[in-house]
Amino acid sequence: MSNIGSYEERIEGFDWSLSEKELEYTPGDRINIGWYCTDRICRMGKADKTALIWEGLGGASRTYTFNDIRLAANTIGRFLRDLGIADQDRVCLFMDKIPELYLGFLGILKIGAIAQPLFSAFGDESLLVRLENAETSAIITQRKHVSKVRKIRDRLPHLKHIIIVDYDGRKPLQEREQAFSLDDADPVEELEVFPTEAESPSVLHYTSGTTGMPKGVKHVHYSLIAQYLTAKWVLDLQDDDIYWCTADPGWVTGTSYGIIGPWSLGITQCVLDCGFSAAAWYRFIEKHRVTVWYSAPTAIRSLMRAGEEVVKDHDLSGLRHLASVGEPLNSEAVIWSGKVFGKPFHDTYWQTETGVIMIANYPGMKVKPGSMGKPFPGITGVILDPVSHEPIAEAGKIGLIAFKPGWPSMMRTYWNNEATYQAKFVNNWYLSGDRASIDNEGYFWFVGRDDDVINTGGHLVSPFEVESALLEHEAVAESAVVSKPDEVNMEVVKAFVMLNPGFEPDAELELKIMNFIRKKLSPLAMPQEIEYVESLPKTRSGKIMRRLLHAQEWGEEIGDTSTLEDE
Ligand code: WT7
Repeated sequence: MSNIGSYEERIEGFDWSLSEKELEYTPGDRINIGWYCTDRICRMGKADKTALIWEGLGGASRTYTFNDIRLAANTIGRFLRDLGIADQDRVCLFMDKIPELYLGFLGILKIGAIAQPLFSAFGDESLLVRLENAETSAIITQRKHVSKVRKIRDRLPHLKHIIIVDYDGRKPLQEREQAFSLDDADPVEELEVFPTEAESPSVLHYTSGTTGMPKGVKHVHYSLIAQYLTAKWVLDLQDDDIYWCTADPGWVTGTSYGIIGPWSLGITQCVLDCGFSAAAWYRFIEKHRVTVWYSAPTAIRSLMRAGEEVVKDHDLSGLRHLASVGEPLNSEAVIWSGKVFGKPFHDTYWQTETGVIMIANYPGMKVKPGSMGKPFPGITGVILDPVSHEPIAEAGKIGLIAFKPGWPSMMRTYWNNEATYQAKFVNNWYLSGDRASIDNEGYFWFVGRDDDVINTGGHLVSPFEVESALLEHEAVAESAVVSKPDEVNMEVVKAFVMLNPGFEPDAELELKIMNFIRKKLSPLAMPQEIEYVESLPKTRSGKIMRRLLHAQEWGEEIGDTSTLEDE
């Protein structure tokens, strides 16, 4: 029997107080995610249960019980507090998927500070804009990433502490740097948890839009109420499960469902910190007898490409429930997984802003391959007419995905950017920025984004950010960035570039520009192709018409070009 039981029955009279009761939370009480994921689980008699099974490069591995993660979070929390980190100060986590990332996250929350996880593959420019915007006080990082922080620290007056978790004493520490080793520090048995309340800020995740700088999505401790229940009902996590979420906590999936959801339920989870290979993934599932697996379409498509033979080399019979998020999950992938794993991947849809899964295929409910499923109980999801912003009743008609605001883990604002936050609402609907239709059985079918943001392998990339970075290259006069189709990643970044006089439009320069972006922004944002052009299509007001270039890449109708400058 699945945790959710009957979806229809759960919808009936649903109230979030159900989750509050299970978590023994009464409105007005203090609520701290760090405490819930550690101390509470220990008090429930699970102190010796395994919380984390971690594997890293070269066969390194570690196992932590719930008491171990409680102590580690206390120890990191105390260290930060002793440095002078106060409640609501932003502390950035800038690490690979090493244990300190997970344990540091909980430590930051326990002292009431705000955790700001950033993807460790980010280059210095990506890091700079996010630390500047958040006025971050401290960053916790590793030796291998510290050079990127050193490059920008002079432009970050608020950044008082650069904490290195694997300092080996070989080279001297530089200004503002400190070493902290979880293995060497005295474990802190009792830490006074900061008395955070429902609306106290907890996590700041940065996400990319079409225009402007990345936006800091502010979440609060009360988000736990929804993270707990969605993890329980959608991922169907049960006491004896071994759960694997493949997402990096630099992104929201890796915190909502790679830390908070499973650990607030007292579930054992595993983490694999190494590059992708089908054989390595299957070996990991086999070795740890993974039962619940939450992954992403790009990974699933890569596994499909690797073929069925490699599946047969492994015993994956422990797998009980599979789910996916981040980009459209094509029906072929759902059917393939049913064939080779004996279980379909269940698609789930949500966003950094929503904090939790909003639409899903639930255990026990009929999976329609290619559909995202139905709204979570308590969530009102509709398709709005793009012009009137009224809900569309007609089945199959495409419009904007919108939600009635007010669920526990809805973002509370964009950091320092209330105007952009307000612009996400019309007629008291939260606009997701995606387009879809609903069929006559209430299933949602994703169509596409309603903006120019590129979703490459489940990661959002802002064309504006890439264009701005391109302009900083000496050879680039002007550029326009769009997506182009890709078999595995669905879309990848493509840049159209007008060169400055004196530069040769050749392959060597193309590679140089690609690398420039990879280092400055990230490997995700790096254009996979650069097309040299003599001019770029613009509107009469001088705005580059990405829409036209996009249509060209995807072989689509170009549509209305009446505002084009050169027709
Ligand atoms: C955007 C949100 C929180 C999930 C990780 C990404 C796209 C997400 C699906 C899906 C089609 C999806 C949407 C959404 N997306 N899930 N199941 N099918 N598209 O979080 O970085 O905030 O991206 O990812 O476009 O708006 P994010």
